[in-house]
Amino acid sequence: MKFAIFLTCLAATALALPAPSNSNNGTSGGSNNGSNGAITASIIPDFGVTAGIQSADQSGSCVGVDNKNIPCECPPSKEAFAQTLSTFVSRGVAGASAIEFSTNFTDQSAVTNLARVNAMINTLQNFNFDKTGRTGDGCPAVSAPNLGTIRTQLLNGQNVQIGGK
Ligand SMILES: *[C@@H]1O[C@H](CO)[C@@H](O)[C@H](O)[C@H]1NC(C)=O
Ligand SMILES: *[C@@H]1O[C@H](CO)[C@@H](O)[C@H](O)[C@H]1NC(C)=O
Ligand SMILES: *[C@@H]1O[C@H](CO)[C@@H](O)[C@H](O)[C@H]1NC(C)=O
Repeated sequence: MKFAIFLTCLAATALALPAPSNSNNGTSGGSNNGSNGAITASIIPDFGVTAGIQSADQSGSCVGVDNKNIPCECPPSKEAFAQTLSTFVSRGVAGASAIEFSTNFTDQSAVTNLARVNAMINTLQNFNFDKTGRTGDGCPAVSAPNLGTIRTQLLNGQNVQIGGK
């Protein structure tokens, strides 16, 4: 069974995202200097849920964190996720949400990493946008609880690295 999950954008509520930098397409230097680092599977944190574990109580669904039902294709593979994130980052937009993701991984400041994890959360929740054209068509937060945890840790002043060495 296929179904879309529409979520309010939790990422945008507590943080005003900076304006998208459409002029940085990865070849022009600046915060998206592509020679610094590529958006590959290796820089994507573990999502915290294994995709494809059938739910006992709802056929056609799979199990997310706290036994919440999620679509069985969620979370995506890190490879597919990195590819979609990369596409959205080059646009500066995930679905309808402005995103900013610095590929200068030398910069491990909390502000930069918060923008990175917000970009990942927005990408997760709009993962199917290019397939369906619908904003909010993607995977629910309960399919990748670690992203929310990282976001909370950064907001609480903890040093969490994304793409750092
Ligand atoms: C984007 O990249 C292309 C090369 O792929 C380059 O020709 C173009 O000038 C770049 N645009 C900006 C705004 O940096
Ligand atoms: C991109 O980053 C690399 C490594 O820091 C640097 O050597 C290079 O000059 C930068 N390119 C641009 C166009 O800023
Ligand atoms: C990358 O980030 C580091 C640390 O913030 C900074 O010193 C450096 O200038 C940045 N490099 C580029 C090409 O923006």
